[in-house]
Amino acid sequence: MNKTSNAKRRQLVVGNWKMNGNQQLNAELLAKVVAGWQGEHQAEVVVCPPSPYLLPAFEKISGSSIMLGAQNLSQYDSGAYTGEVSAQMLAELHCKFVIIGHNERRRLQGETDEQVAQKFMAAQRASLIPILCVGESSAQREQGRHLDVIGAQLKAVCSQVGCDVFANAVVAYEPVWAVGTGKTATPQQAEEVHRFIRSQLGEVAETVRILYGGSVKASNAEQLFAIPDIDGALLGGASLDADEFLKICKAAD
Ligand code: 13P
Repeated sequence: MNKTSNAKRRQLVVGNWKMNGNQQLNAELLAKVVAGWQGEHQAEVVVCPPSPYLLPAFEKISGSSIMLGAQNLSQYDSGAYTGEVSAQMLAELHCKFVIIGHNERRRLQGETDEQVAQKFMAAQRASLIPILCVGESSAQREQGRHLDVIGAQLKAVCSQVGCDVFANAVVAYEPVWAVGTGKTATPQQAEEVHRFIRSQLGEVAETVRILYGGSVKASNAEQLFAIPDIDGALLGGASLDADEFLKICKAAD
């Protein structure tokens, strides 16, 4: 697929498996994905398995162009943080990317904008590429506050270290009401937010990849990818089905 307006940015498709899978299912899924994604591609593809499966997943994708990402990390580099995983540990397990501030962690684990910003910086200290998730709840959208909420989520990072750090980062717009619900943002809604996000990223804005996430499927991917400020997708459910995942990767390619 050709998009002349953003020739500087390679399309990126990221599969967030969340807390799904097991050794056998993961092996089957990755065998199909690797077989279907041979050779050179314009689009980049990343899979983000649960942490215990990072190394076996890496072994399955090695030799292909598919890259590895993690779903979360600690904001601390090391120490007495039982159950946490550091950025350096993820880098050692061959992760290139890490999802930061997913709405499930903000809502269910109470992660604040400040903690998310600290995790963003921890990732970059270990040369991981943070995928910063931002997005509004349905109540915030109904109140017309969606851009304010997303602006604050971005500012939490920019105000601490400046927006230039986004030169080595990815942003994912995931409206909370669209995640796992089957509801997708309309092209107009996505376009408004993606343009807004880019307007908040300072001098590096034109180079930053901004993904859309929330009930992306093979049937709606083409339409979303045709929007100039959408540079790929962050997938949940669709990344657990090899055929569906590959169709979306190909739509981005
Ligand atoms: P779904 O694609 O299942 O809606 O999930 C999106 C998501 O949360 C990816 O991080």
